[in-house]
Amino acid sequence: MTDARSVLVVDDDAQVRSLLTDLLKGEGYGVKVAKTGAEAIAAVEKQRPDLVLMDVKLPDQDGIAVLRQLKRAHDELEIIVMTAFGGSSSAIKAMEHGAYDYVTKPFEIDDLTAGLRRVFEHADMASEVSALRLELGKSAAERERIVGSSRPMLEVYKLIGKVASSDATVLITGESGTGKELVAEALHRASKRNPHPMVKVSCAALPETLLETELFGHEKGSFTGAMTQRKGRFEAANKGTIFLDEIGEMTLGTQTKLLRILQEREFERIGSNVSIKIDIRVIAATNRDLAGEVEAGRFREDLYYRLNVIHIDMPPLRDRMDDVPSLVEHFLAKYRWSPDAIPTTITEEAMAVLQEHDWPGNVRELENAVERAVVLSRGAPILPEHLPLTAAPIQGSATEGGPPRRGRRAATKAAAGADADAVAPPRNGASEAAEGAGLKEAVAALEKRLIGEALARNSGNRSKAADELGIYRRLLYAKIREYGLGE
Ligand SMILES: Nc1ncnc2c1ncn2[C@@H]1O[C@H](COP(=O)(O)OP(=O)(O)OP(=O)(O)O)[C@@H](O)[C@H]1O
Ligand SMILES: [Mg+2]
Repeated sequence: MTDARSVLVVDDDAQVRSLLTDLLKGEGYGVKVAKTGAEAIAAVEKQRPDLVLMDVKLPDQDGIAVLRQLKRAHDELEIIVMTAFGGSSSAIKAMEHGAYDYVTKPFEIDDLTAGLRRVFEHADMASEVSALRLELGKSAAERERIVGSSRPMLEVYKLIGKVASSDATVLITGESGTGKELVAEALHRASKRNPHPMVKVSCAALPETLLETELFGHEKGSFTGAMTQRKGRFEAANKGTIFLDEIGEMTLGTQTKLLRILQEREFERIGSNVSIKIDIRVIAATNRDLAGEVEAGRFREDLYYRLNVIHIDMPPLRDRMDDVPSLVEHFLAKYRWSPDAIPTTITEEAMAVLQEHDWPGNVRELENAVERAVVLSRGAPILPEHLPLTAAPIQGSATEGGPPRRGRRAATKAAAGADADAVAPPRNGASEAAEGAGLKEAVAALEKRLIGEALARNSGNRSKAADELGIYRRLLYAKIREYGLGE
C-alpha cells in the first residue's frame, strides 16, 4: 500500500462533502468526492481509492445496491457507510453486504477518524484480504439466524464482523439464554476456519480429571482404565475453533494447562511427554462475572487476560425489548407445525404480554414461551392465555392509567381461567390458510395507514401517536420498523 491513503467521499450534500474533505485532508488522506451512486462507481473504477465513505441515502440509487456492486467488483475495497440516526436496519444491511463499519450522522469527528484509522490498520494486517472477504460474505446468512436489530445487537454484529476473520481469542459473556453459543457459532462460520470443525466443550459438565482427558487426550496406560490412546478435543479442533463453554467453572489446575496452550499453542496428551502443536482459535463463554472470579481468587488473572482479547458482552433481552417482535416472528416460523405450514400468528394482546415481561431467562425463555404457545393454541392465533409466563414484577405503566391494552395482570388472570375449549381447532385446509394470510395483509395495511396518519398528525412525535392509537410506545416502535415508517 502506498503512503497517502485515498478516500472517496460519496454524499449528495455539498456541505458534508466539503466538511469531510477538509477533515480527511487534515488527517493526511487523499480525498476524492462523488455526489451520486453512479459517480461513486465510476470514481472507484478510475481512481481505485483505498476506502469509500458513503451515505446510504443517495439521490439516484439505493446506497446498499451501490455498496453491493462495489464489493462485488472490488472485494478488497473497504467501505464505511453513513446512516441517519435511527437507520439501524440500513446499518445492518450494509454490514451484511460487506461494509466494514458504519457511522451515524451526525457523527463525532473523533469517532470517524478513529474508524478510518482502524480500517487501514486492518488492511495492513490482512494479508489475504480477498479470501477473508469471501468468508465474511457468508456470515451474512449466518447473522440472519441471530435475530434482532436493536442497537445493542447491532454492536454485537459489528464485533462479529470485525473479529470473525482474525484469529483473536474471544470471550463471550452474558446472562443465561442471551445467545452466547449462537454468537460463537456465527464467529466460527464467518471465519476462514469454517471448513474445519468447531468443537464444543462444556467445562461445567465434567469433573477435573475427566475434563482434562477430554481436552488433552491421553496415552494408552496413562492411568487405570486408559486402555487405548485417545485424542483430545484440542486435537479434534485442529485448524478449526474450540468453544470452551462455561469457562468460569474450570478448576485452577485445568486453567493452568489451558493457559499454556493459549501461550504456546502446544500441549501434551496425558501420560505423554511429546508436545503436539495445534493451530486453533479459542472462543470461551461464561455467564459468570470473570473479573469478579479473578478477584475472588477462583480464576487466574493471566488466563483471564489471555481470553479477554476480544470481549463480546451479550445484552439481556430486557435491555433490547425492541427485538421481541422479530424474535417472536422467528420462533413462530421455527416452531411451525410442519415445514410447509404457515406459521401460527399472534394477537396483538398476546404480543403486548410478551413485551411487558422482563425475561429473566432471556431469549431462551422467550423461545420456550413461543413454542409452548404454538402447541397450546393448536394452530389458532396465540392469545394471552397461551402465555402463562412465570411471575415477574408488574410494571406500573402497564397497569395503571396505561393504554387500553391488556397488561400482564390481565393476561395472568386470563391464563388462570383459560378454557381449552374456547380455543379454536387447528386450521388445516389450504384455502383457510390463504384466507388467513389475506386477512393478515389487510390488517397490516390498515395498521400501517393508521400509524402513518397518527404520526403525521403528531408531527412524528411517537409518544403522542402511541397515546392516540392506544398502544404501547414499544409496540408502536416495533410497528414503525416493521412497516418501514421510520426512515
Ligand atoms: N438473537 C437470537 N436470535 C435467535 N435465537 C436466539 C437468539 N439468542 C438466543 N437464541 C436462541 O435461544 C436459545 C439460547 O441461546 P444460547 O444457547 O446461545 O444461549 P447462551 O447464552 O449460551 O445460554 P447459557 O448461558 O444458558 O448457555 C437457543 O435456542 C438460541 O438459538
Ligand atoms: Mg450456552
